[in-house]
Amino acid sequence: MADVTELTLELCSVTDEAAARQILEWRNDPVTLSMFFHRTPKTVDEFWREYQRDYFVDPNLPPLFVLDGDRRVSFLRFKRIADPSGRCCCDISINVAPTARGKRLGSRSLLVAAEFLRSRGVDEIVAEIRVENTASVRSFENAGFGFHERTNKLIADTGEDCAIVVYRKQLS
Ligand SMILES: CC(C)(COP(=O)(O)OP(=O)(O)OC[C@H]1O[C@@H](n2cnc3c(N)ncnc32)[C@H](O)[C@@H]1OP(=O)(O)O)[C@@H](O)C(=O)NCCC(=O)NCCS
Repeated sequence: MADVTELTLELCSVTDEAAARQILEWRNDPVTLSMFFHRTPKTVDEFWREYQRDYFVDPNLPPLFVLDGDRRVSFLRFKRIADPSGRCCCDISINVAPTARGKRLGSRSLLVAAEFLRSRGVDEIVAEIRVENTASVRSFENAGFGFHERTNKLIADTGEDCAIVVYRKQLS
């Protein structure tokens, strides 16, 4: 039977060190690392500095946890993308808690995050996914994202030329 429990959101706070540790723990999971653009595990100190410096650049689009009841099941982060037409576009990244994967929480989290972004004035969401990340592609498709293109992305600091697919979802 389909799981119809409503998911809720917990907006992250820049001063919440425990939240940063939780995000880091999920991020250092080997499957996550293999699917992210930066594959090196991070230390607590290094990540805490990065979290405070980079994760709250746009106060309108803070990172968030998706909650199933009182349990954090996924973490999502957004980055505003410059758009010459003046529309508000943002990049999205998702990490489902390693113990919560395989239950369709990825696509359900993306759906509630999309409503959050719509409420914050975002017109379009863009996702860049490694071509081999089939579970992610399926999750984005299930959440109503459409295929845009297959291309390559140069990861500046590692030099990797990475094959990706780009998915988009219009919100307005
Ligand atoms: C990718 C991710 C977001 C998917 O969320 P999820 O809740 O675990 O998704 P599910 O396991 O329910 O699977 C979603 C779909 O992918 C399919 N799938 C899962 N694992 C798969 C695999 N290894 N190969 C092929 N398909 C797979 C499922 O069958 C399901 O397809 P369906 O809806 O057509 O039945 C989650 O696994 C995750 O956070 N992974 C690590 C980080 C990551 O890759 N983030 C995305 C970066 S772009």
